Amino acid sequence: MADWHKVAAVTDVPVGTGKEIAVNGRLVALFNVDGEFNAIDGICAHQGGPLGKGNLIGKVVTCPWHGWQFDVTAGTHCLTSRICQAVFESKIEDGNVYVKV
Ligand code: FES
Repeated sequence: MADWHKVAAVTDVPVGTGKEIAVNGRLVALFNVDGEFNAIDGICAHQGGPLGKGNLIGKVVTCPWHGWQFDVTAGTHCLTSRICQAVFESKIEDGNVYVKV
């Protein structure tokens, strides 16, 4: 059952960056897009690359293994929405980021 987990301090993930987090048995990729936090499944749908370690430009992360690109606000692949990473709810409380996983 999904529950809220504190995964980072807001200051741990500056604007335009991401972070890979293991939480509740899942690998989550957390991104800061202009101050809004977005959390998606951190295991790339292609061959399991670490999306949380990918380069973020705007709201698009590029998988470091083979370059697939995903919109981190929707979880969708940039070329086809048929490929979609799971998206997790996130919120900020008291300077910390929480993700529902
Ligand atoms: S594993 Fe992500 S693009 Fe191949």
